[in-house]
Amino acid sequence: MTLTEEEFRQLFEIEQTCFHGSWTEETLRSEINSPLNILCTERREEKIVGFALGRVVVDEGELYQIATLPEYRRQGTADRLLAQLHDEMRERGAVCCFLEVRSRNSGAIALYEKLGYQKISVRRGYYDDDDALIYRIEL
Ligand SMILES: CC(C)(COP(=O)(O)OP(=O)(O)OC[C@H]1O[C@@H](n2cnc3c(N)ncnc32)[C@H](O)[C@@H]1OP(=O)(O)O)[C@@H](O)C(=O)NCCC(=O)NCCS
Repeated sequence: MTLTEEEFRQLFEIEQTCFHGSWTEETLRSEINSPLNILCTERREEKIVGFALGRVVVDEGELYQIATLPEYRRQGTADRLLAQLHDEMRERGAVCCFLEVRSRNSGAIALYEKLGYQKISVRRGYYDDDDALIYRIEL
């Protein structure tokens, strides 16, 4: 997907708001521009209100990030973004998708489990202050 500077600015704002600056502008730009990566967006009129970013390596998909601006949450945005991302992953030959989530991120965990993701392992102390849960779904 080719983005205008304005669209990139909107994505970076979502990144900053939802992940409190875990990625720099340069990191986000290079992830979005990587041909291996898949970017899905949801818009209201011209404004991007949520995005999902993933990639497929051989036959496995991986979700890197998914976020919806706070004022647009609980309206099905992330649900639709993941459906879109899974479709694109299938088209690129993926048979499953993995993701990693903080054990205390109950909202995201509820989303993933609703969509059928299953917890396959725990990485204790993966984050400084939290464990990482690894989830997988068959595509
Ligand atoms: C997690 C996140 C992406 C969900 O986005 P969203 O657009 O609000 O999600 P949806 O509206 O599509 O939710 C779909 C379902 O997921 C579940 N869900 C989503 N957010 C939830 C929450 N905060 N608490 C409980 N369940 C939740 C619900 O089952 C929901 O369906 P319902 O609203 O009919 O009950 C959003 O809260 C977010 O951006 N969080 C910050 C970034 C983040 O933590 N990303 C994930 C780690 S990479």
